[in-house]
Amino acid sequence: MGSKLQNTQLGTSPLGYALGAEIEGLDISLNLGSQIYEAINHIWQEHHVVVFRGKHLQPRDIVFFAEGFGDLDDHASTPFYRHPDVPQLLQITNRLIDGKPSETRNTGRNWHSDYSYTGRPAAASLLYCNQCPPVGGDTMFANMVRAYESLSGTMKGIVDNLHAVYDVSLTAGINERDASKTAEVRRLNPPIAHPAVRVHPRSGKRALYVSERVSHFHGMTRAESKPLIEFLCCHATQPENVYRHNWREGDLVCWDNRTVMHIALADFDQNQPRHMLRATILGEDSGFVVRDE
Ligand code: OGA
Ligand code: MN
Repeated sequence: MGSKLQNTQLGTSPLGYALGAEIEGLDISLNLGSQIYEAINHIWQEHHVVVFRGKHLQPRDIVFFAEGFGDLDDHASTPFYRHPDVPQLLQITNRLIDGKPSETRNTGRNWHSDYSYTGRPAAASLLYCNQCPPVGGDTMFANMVRAYESLSGTMKGIVDNLHAVYDVSLTAGINERDASKTAEVRRLNPPIAHPAVRVHPRSGKRALYVSERVSHFHGMTRAESKPLIEFLCCHATQPENVYRHNWREGDLVCWDNRTVMHIALADFDQNQPRHMLRATILGEDSGFVVRDE
């Protein structure tokens, strides 16, 4: 007898060759049940980024949907910038907050994987677009499984044995934020080393885990590490390996931080409002704090 899982067909169309797929016709504000979540996870593992379009989600709907994928990060590593009523959501926006330009207006401006500078880097992120400019404000995603697989055997052997040190200070724009908040974020997140190749716990796939927020490789100098970090980031972000999402209001874009890195582009008029809400799914414990290196 075929299982119900096999019978759970979701309409899916690829959005990019390297990664990205849209799931159509699913009302994600409903209580979906484990078989639908399994079916979504299956598509997500294959395409790394899944997109739902034309949704009208309230903040609590986003949390409710996200919780079906695992425990949510409480965003304690950056204890600011929450949605005022729904603290499980981060608010990424250029709107005025308390009469001042929001400090999250330049979030994500270099290639990264969410919360790589914590001891429990994010498994996944779900970002909902409440409001977006008429043009631009796109987000790009790079497939880090393909990036790893397309390295030579020798280079794979090298990265397999490296730990990348993540430094929250390399978050683009962090120095333009309120100095006391930035100091608190640095205090909460000392440099931490994670394996430079991350193994997906469900699929077993190996993905390169190196981004522009890596200061060096553990046990190597910064000078020795720099060309390798630059090579690996360039290699991973070749256009052939990237999906670029052009937002529409009502989009929910879900990415797997274990197999994808992303960047938010400043390719829009900052006088036009952009308002996004993010839920983050906790990943596994990983890494060790690095001091004086
Ligand atoms: C994020 C991020 C992307 C964007 O939410 O993790 O990097 O396009 N933002 O706002
Ligand atoms: Mn991000």
